[in-house]
Amino acid sequence: MTLPALPGGAQLLADQLAAALEQMPDPSGGPAAGQLERDLAEAFGVPYAVAVASGTAALHAALSACGIGPGDEVLVPALSVVMTVAPLGALGATPVFIDSDPATLDLDYDDAARKVTSQTRAIIPVHLWGRMGDAAALAAFASEHGLAVVEDAAQAAGTARDGQRAGTVGTVGCISMKDGKILWSGEGGFLLTARREIAEHATAFRSHWQPAPSGEAPLSRLATNSRLAAPLAAIALANLRRLASLVELRRAQTCHLLHALEQTPGLLALAPATREEWNGFAPLLHIALPNPRAFAEHLAQQAVPNSTGSFRLIPCDARPMFTGRDRPCRGAAQILDHMLAVILTERDTETTLDRYAAVIATEATAWAT
Ligand SMILES: Cc1ncc(COP(=O)(O)O)c(C=O)c1O
Repeated sequence: MTLPALPGGAQLLADQLAAALEQMPDPSGGPAAGQLERDLAEAFGVPYAVAVASGTAALHAALSACGIGPGDEVLVPALSVVMTVAPLGALGATPVFIDSDPATLDLDYDDAARKVTSQTRAIIPVHLWGRMGDAAALAAFASEHGLAVVEDAAQAAGTARDGQRAGTVGTVGCISMKDGKILWSGEGGFLLTARREIAEHATAFRSHWQPAPSGEAPLSRLATNSRLAAPLAAIALANLRRLASLVELRRAQTCHLLHALEQTPGLLALAPATREEWNGFAPLLHIALPNPRAFAEHLAQQAVPNSTGSFRLIPCDARPMFTGRDRPCRGAAQILDHMLAVILTERDTETTLDRYAAVIATEATAWAT
């Protein structure tokens, strides 16, 4: 299988970056971030996009814009990274961890319903590895319980389900542009929303409450700075213009690796849901071998980077700062303990992928015996 070429990537990036640098220094921040926001809104088909310095900053601004504050409880899947939860701590809100269904990776709505209280204000669905849950089930749950939906679509640029793009199904959607994401700018992030007051709040929140939302005075509240710097906005603009090619490449890379591992004992590829157009963020394999987590860690030591082996990804509710609060989320633990999620970037050539496949196949065969 041949990977598709990425047309003109390096030149496009160099041209955009040079244009941004020519306009610097500019204390107003220059035009790149504003242009990026207009282009993001158009590309994702939403009225508003607000560019910020990271995916975490996007979540922080989004949750603040939804009115989340001290005393509020927010439902968060234990099947996530700790960056999803950090903004809740900063806002004084309490994360309430909910489980995920090992068969689908989607939220366990029965568990979520059991954990709703009179303090629950929002839910953060996390499209981990770019996989997107059932948007209709999410909307029904949120509406039944009167919750805001803040999507953590950090890894999900380019995924859609039932024709709806990840990041556009909730009250507000947050995407990271950290290096390694499909749409990358080194560091960076943005939020997407159809609601003007949320976009205005986030715009004020990321820059010392200036400009302020309609009807408020500039600098009338304390806020910090999480603006996206012009050179990074320029890189994001260049990558946004080739987003379709970047997603196509990632899907082809994932397909290539999964195809090469089809006959490998003890490894079963996880297929996306029906009507899910998955961005192929990371090839996902269920490890049906003894000591599966140790196997993922062993692969990381053999230079096959992967979520659980390289980054020791564990359910959020099992992290030391949260243990003891909720009943453990066993579905999330089961998913992560058996998951091989290979970490890819656009630089991974067929040679790299074939090397990963050869190492994984050899080690799986040896591990099984
Ligand atoms: C699921 C998820 N949420 C949030 C984040 C935070 O994004 P950032 O690193 O850009 O702050 C990440 C990034 O790694 C992520 O993968």
